[in-house]
Amino acid sequence: MADRSSPSYHPGKEAAGKKAADLVEDGMIVGLGTGSTTAYTIKEIGKRVKEGLDILAVVTSYQSEMLAIEAGIPLTSLAEHPVLDIAIDGADQVNPNLDTIKGGGAAHTREKIVSLSAKRFIIVADESKYVEELEMPIPIEVLPYAYKLVQKQIADLGGKAEIRAASRKDGPVISDNGNFTLDADFGKIKNPEELSTSLSKCAGLVEHGIFTNVDEVYIGDKDGNVKVLKK
Ligand code: A5P
Repeated sequence: MADRSSPSYHPGKEAAGKKAADLVEDGMIVGLGTGSTTAYTIKEIGKRVKEGLDILAVVTSYQSEMLAIEAGIPLTSLAEHPVLDIAIDGADQVNPNLDTIKGGGAAHTREKIVSLSAKRFIIVADESKYVEELEMPIPIEVLPYAYKLVQKQIADLGGKAEIRAASRKDGPVISDNGNFTLDADFGKIKNPEELSTSLSKCAGLVEHGIFTNVDEVYIGDKDGNVKVLKK
């Protein structure tokens, strides 16, 4: 989690992340997202657990697992609890229809599984993530065996997919599932739902970062105010 002296600190992340923690109630099974904004949510839920809040949580990554354990949140699995009451996660871009791009931390496959297991899916983000039109390259998790074929299928759909590497001299970023991550540039995305469906049909593509199942977005601004957008 970015502390207040870190260059990536944004007061809106802290405000939105903490406010969404209030949605968690006794008896809930909760999906915990990944990233610097959700880290505030996890920490806040951990505080409430110490005060007696009785919940179980499912994580979306090794990062959120480590944070949840540190915060003292009891964990379960999707195999034991396939239906979650709520999932709270961060975003890379969100549009006014609440279509969202996720996967900046290469965790979007488990994040999508957790979000689709939840009765209510909440996004927490600072105001810089809110855009009129989605346009950032879409994170794509691929089987290493099939990455060239996936790049070709994405080119056929009008995009350009590059392998994500930590730096120019490093090899590919490997996801928690042991796969490669690509970033597929489609420019401005006019119809996220349609592109999501087309990408899901690509052979060898494990999961992409377009989410069209968001129920509510908590957006924090630089003064620490939080606006809630609903579907
Ligand atoms: C992880 O792969 C992502 O989907 C994150 O949830 C997203 O990148 C948001 O991260 P921050 O809260 O750190 O901006």
